[in-house]
Amino acid sequence: MKARIAASILSADFARLGEEVRAVVAAGADLVHFDVMDNHYVPNLTVGPLVCKAIRPHVTVPIDVHLMVEPVDRIVADFAEAGANIVSFHPEASRHVDRTIDLIHGHGMRAGLAFNPATPLTFLDYVLEKLDLILIMSVNPGFGGQSFIRAVLPKIRAARERVVARGRDVWIEVDGGIKTDNIGEVAAAGADTFVAGSAIFSHEDYRTVIGEMRARVAQSHAVSARVA
Ligand code: DX5
Ligand code: ZN
Repeated sequence: MKARIAASILSADFARLGEEVRAVVAAGADLVHFDVMDNHYVPNLTVGPLVCKAIRPHVTVPIDVHLMVEPVDRIVADFAEAGANIVSFHPEASRHVDRTIDLIHGHGMRAGLAFNPATPLTFLDYVLEKLDLILIMSVNPGFGGQSFIRAVLPKIRAARERVVARGRDVWIEVDGGIKTDNIGEVAAAGADTFVAGSAIFSHEDYRTVIGEMRARVAQSHAVSARVA
């Protein structure tokens, strides 16, 4: 299974955002991970549909919007209009999770549920059939450059087991503190999509670090295949 690398714009140089997203996609990123924060659901404030619309013409890959906002529903249509392809939201931030998933689908986008480190997977119980993506936070949301929380590794395994049991192709995306030295372990736990912000944008060569991440994931798969 090919690893999907989602470059989080949070650690990009916002004074040159168009250049940065062009560069990271040219360097091999499969998705642009667009972190939306409202200083209400999380203690930080970032960007909205206006900036998504601005980078859309510069991005040839899906824009993977991560809504760390409350409420959720009001802003979904604006991101569809701005060219987003995937929208993930935190179930605690929506009064009606099933309805919000339908709303995202109704605007022609793929829908994901985002799980904070302490949020149990039970929110999947009645909506996994509808989901396109499970976003597992390996940091507490709000900032880039934080350390990976190892306690989420069993949660990633549990999510993979649920997806396999359902026999559906649901992406398992892990978000926060992903580096070249831990991405292999995260892949072995069952993730197939990896968000990386500071690990990519703090590196002087985006292609090198993305290539290294892919190599570590491939190595991890090879080890898993041998022991299987
Ligand atoms: C945090 C965001 C993450 C973050 C990842 O709330 O959802 O996407 O930007 O950044 P790094 O890879 O630096 O942890
Ligand atoms: Zn994110």
